[in-house]
Amino acid sequence: MIVCHCQSITDHDIRAAVTWMRAADPDTIVTPGKIYHALGKRADCGGCMPLLLDVMRKTESFGVPADPAQVPRLRPMRLRA
Ligand code: FES
Repeated sequence: MIVCHCQSITDHDIRAAVTWMRAADPDTIVTPGKIYHALGKRADCGGCMPLLLDVMRKTESFGVPADPAQVPRLRPMRLRA
């Protein structure tokens, strides 16, 4: 399915770019700008952004895998008297 008509980007292109970025750097934050850059293209009208975001977020490898060892522990606040 064509997602971006200005740049002829398909949903398959978006999923492939997200998967490639995640494989290259497991901690990277995937953004629409990075997807366009990875595909060697630039957004034009931006009309595709809602659908592009939807496809990007639904890609299986979109999320950054959580490492419980790196999640900071929060300490309770001390209240001043
Ligand atoms: S439809 Fe994607 S930039 Fe225009």
